[in-house]
Amino acid sequence: MSAPAQVPASLTHLEVMNIFRHDLLQNKQFSQTDTHVFIVLGASGDLAKKKIYPTLWWLYLDGLLPADTHLVGFARSHLTMANVRKQVLPFMKVTEEEASKLDDFFGRNTYVQGKYTDLASFQALDRHITALCKGHKANRLFYLALPPSVYEDVTLNIKQGCMDQFGWNRVIVEKPFGKDLASSDKLSNHLSTLFREDQIYRIDHYLGKEMVQNLMVLRFANRIFGPVWNRDNIASVVLTFKEPFGTEGRGGYFDEFGIIRDVMQNHMMQMLCLVAMEKPASTSPNDVRDEKVKVLKNIPEIRLGDVVVGQYAGNPAGQGEAKKGYCDDPTVPKGSVTATYAAVVLYIQNERWDGVPFVMRCGKALNERKAEVRLQFRDVPGDIFQQQCKRNELVIRVQPNEAIYTKMMTKKPGMFFNPEESELDLTYGSRYKDVKLPDAYERLILDVFCGNQMHFVRSDELREAWRIFTPLLHKLETSKVRPVPYVYGSRGPPEADELMKKVGFRYEGTYKWVNPNKL
Ligand code: BG6
Repeated sequence: MSAPAQVPASLTHLEVMNIFRHDLLQNKQFSQTDTHVFIVLGASGDLAKKKIYPTLWWLYLDGLLPADTHLVGFARSHLTMANVRKQVLPFMKVTEEEASKLDDFFGRNTYVQGKYTDLASFQALDRHITALCKGHKANRLFYLALPPSVYEDVTLNIKQGCMDQFGWNRVIVEKPFGKDLASSDKLSNHLSTLFREDQIYRIDHYLGKEMVQNLMVLRFANRIFGPVWNRDNIASVVLTFKEPFGTEGRGGYFDEFGIIRDVMQNHMMQMLCLVAMEKPASTSPNDVRDEKVKVLKNIPEIRLGDVVVGQYAGNPAGQGEAKKGYCDDPTVPKGSVTATYAAVVLYIQNERWDGVPFVMRCGKALNERKAEVRLQFRDVPGDIFQQQCKRNELVIRVQPNEAIYTKMMTKKPGMFFNPEESELDLTYGSRYKDVKLPDAYERLILDVFCGNQMHFVRSDELREAWRIFTPLLHKLETSKVRPVPYVYGSRGPPEADELMKKVGFRYEGTYKWVNPNKL
């Protein structure tokens, strides 16, 4: 890749994206003039409908799809493209000005019906694609928007019946990548017999988020953070993921996995790696992923004593869904002990982080929507302010309202000389008013076209993440550990706050971040 583009602040979204695209086009693995075929396997499913087709539409609108790109849906249902169009349209958020482009977009789309387990269906898909491309070389991207039960058959059939012989072929897989170390290894081994690692794109959509990608720039492009980013200065690191809604409608799927597999083992561990890793030798995908793997290798398996699990219960005073607890969902087995909340403390046993607790907490049906990384610094040694100082914190808020702010002490303004809590604030909504941040999937799918694997999970990363969590998951399941109930819409189990306190996170309760730019 060439050096990143310089983007003047005054440009519109489209202009910015065009500079970005120009930057990408310097990448030799990607040629705008090549023919590309994006194949959505599972085209009639929820993921395709809600995420993949809308993302392709946004890429198309932003002028980021190579000019000669065909989109092919494949699924078991007997559908026409008109049916697919009707299904996906409500999720595409089409504005009045954009409506005139719909026919052109859908004109690039076709649909093929077939069976996932049937090689002949994939040979038919191959013939369809060859005919679309008039027999010319084309690069193929296969998106597996499918239940994991068919991954093995589908990938085998792609390999045996549907690869382009002259262009490149890339396979995009969605989690769950197995349920534990053994099943994940089985899937990885299967994939590695069919494809090279550089053909496999394991999506973790958190890696496509603006602030998650910013972690590397923040850490390695600033002198002010580098020297303090270690055990000498940082007392604890807290990663938080909260959602204000339950598993409504997904209870059946969720119950098989639980919150640790759904969010913590993947999204949160990826963020943790970016916070903790050493500076990579370069920004090339494998240098970055090498460093992430090293972090994971230094984390011992999590023990049951370092965990609090919870499950939400209905709130009798709540409105609508909030009245219902997790087990009130008819798709959830009666008496399920699946966790919808988890807080975990882990340690990274290396020179930079030895002894620093990393707390990860995540949950459904909580009081707010929030994902953030919080580094709490140690106390200032040799206090001269009669214990009025509170600890510094650096917060990277991933969502909503992307922001970076440091909680710090400043002199109380005016005729005072005592310290007061305040903040240095970089709120994106104020600082970058005219920049529309692309959706995570939009960035990641574009990366697959461009052949950039930096923001995708490599097989050894995946293996290490499962190694860390598998003994805990098995223990929770075999011992049927009963999660602590918490009320829908609350902060989660108070036991989680106790756990954080026990490992040294200091919550003062005296400071609340307010948006200082809001009039
Ligand atoms: C998914 C999980 O991977 O991430 C969901 O399966 C969760 O349970 C979602 O709701 C959160 O993603 P985002 O981008 O809305 O924070």
